[in-house]
Amino acid sequence: LLDSIVDQAVFLVDSDGRTATWNPGAEQLTGYSASEVIGRHVSVLYSPDAVATGQPERHLERAARAGRSRREARWIRKEGSGFAADVIVTALCEDDGPLRGFGYVVRELAHQRVTGEEVRGTEESLRLMVESVVDYAIFMLDTDGRVATWNEGAHQLKQYEADEIRGRHFSVFYLPEDRTSGKPERLLAEAARDGRVEDEGWRMRKDGSRFWADVVITALRTPDGELRGYAKVTRDRTERKQAEEAMREMATREREAGAQLSEANRGRQGLIAMVAHDLRTPVGVVHGTADMLLRDWDHLDDGGRIQMIRMILSTTTRLSALVDDVLDMARIESGQLRYERGVLDLVTTVLRAAGDIDPTRERIVVVPRADDVQVRGDERRVWQIITNLLSNAMKFSPGTEQVEVSIEAEDQIGRVSVTDHGSGIAEDDQRKLFEPFSRIGTRRTAAGEGGTGLGLYIARSLVTAQGGQIGATSTVGAGSTFSFTLPLAL
Ligand SMILES: Nc1ncnc2c1ncn2[C@@H]1O[C@H](COP(=O)(O)OP(=O)(O)OP(=O)(O)O)[C@@H](O)[C@H]1O
Ligand SMILES: [Mg+2]
Repeated sequence: LLDSIVDQAVFLVDSDGRTATWNPGAEQLTGYSASEVIGRHVSVLYSPDAVATGQPERHLERAARAGRSRREARWIRKEGSGFAADVIVTALCEDDGPLRGFGYVVRELAHQRVTGEEVRGTEESLRLMVESVVDYAIFMLDTDGRVATWNEGAHQLKQYEADEIRGRHFSVFYLPEDRTSGKPERLLAEAARDGRVEDEGWRMRKDGSRFWADVVITALRTPDGELRGYAKVTRDRTERKQAEEAMREMATREREAGAQLSEANRGRQGLIAMVAHDLRTPVGVVHGTADMLLRDWDHLDDGGRIQMIRMILSTTTRLSALVDDVLDMARIESGQLRYERGVLDLVTTVLRAAGDIDPTRERIVVVPRADDVQVRGDERRVWQIITNLLSNAMKFSPGTEQVEVSIEAEDQIGRVSVTDHGSGIAEDDQRKLFEPFSRIGTRRTAAGEGGTGLGLYIARSLVTAQGGQIGATSTVGAGSTFSFTLPLAL
């Protein structure tokens, strides 16, 4: 079959690039006979220019890497004339095994064969066609990269008139930073070496505005391989680029939205895990105690029975407080917490809360700096804020230490400050205090006197919803002061 092909060179080379077979088509194309060429490196068939720039090796390397390489190359006949060849190199391997060699299929490019008359006619119509194209900037550069021709598309895209741009170096189309880095020259050198180079990037119009360009530069050579200049085809791809960027931005935003969603999901999951754990523990305590009371009733004396009933009562109290907190949190998150707006006296509310938290009033010292401090707010919610601050202060400081509460009126606000002499809170932890489920350290005791870590989160939501602010200052080892404000009812 190969022997019958006369219009194409079809032959094999070994893995080092030495010719191994030769068909009549190869002889006809190159003028070499089989005996003259077999065993010699395939580069004898390439023009000296192509050999100097390493083209034969690059073809083989590329084929070895990609499996196949198709290139236009300058080849040279035995008698010395050059021609443009369409070269297809295929790597030969057996089932992913080692490389056995390469197959070459080479054909002379037809347009080199047209007669002088045809060339002139074709050139003229080609010139007219190129000049009138508006969608593409098509122009030629001389060997130094200076603009030699200009078409209507180039005028529309880059705004230069043919007269003002002809003779100028094509680097004027590049951004200053690309010019400094030598990009224009680099592209020309690549086109000279490989025959053609493609590039995408920002370019500049005459007025300095930018457009995203898709550029192809092709080296133009005489039939003998001598470099004559370059053809440059540039297309405005700004719209496509912008569309791509918009899509990318959209994708990023979607990803971020997804991340936010899963953040919310994590929050909800944290809530479920927390609630499951914090509810199950006291429920277990109540269940176990009631069970023991029933089974061991006869063995227990009155004191033992009372102790167990007290345990059930205190646990259910804590349980219902927890349920309230979780419900409050759910309402806060969904924006459904309702307030009864009214006017209340902070001094009265603090005294009531202190009595509820510390019935004997052994630890809490109330220091009013005015007879009364009338503020705007929902009295039940304000009581809830104060009891949480007071219970925290009691919980997180030794039972022997006092807790002071001061109430004062400032310019437009009333302020309640709760100061304890407990362990204090490290600076890093202070930031997390008001986040939901923020239990710091391992303060939860087996008796469950820690808490769920919702109290301060709820307190902050309640304070801000009523137009106030809440904050804490603390010194490790010395104690903490939590204070909040509410607008005065003037
Ligand atoms: N006065 C304080 N001194 C030291 N640490 C405190 C003080 N107040 C709060 N904390 C720390 O901040 C965390 C969060 O407090 P928060 O009131 O939100 O939750 P809690 O008291 O643990 O539980 P809950 O109030 O829901 O029953 C506490 O667990 C504790 O670690
Ligand atoms: Mg608390």
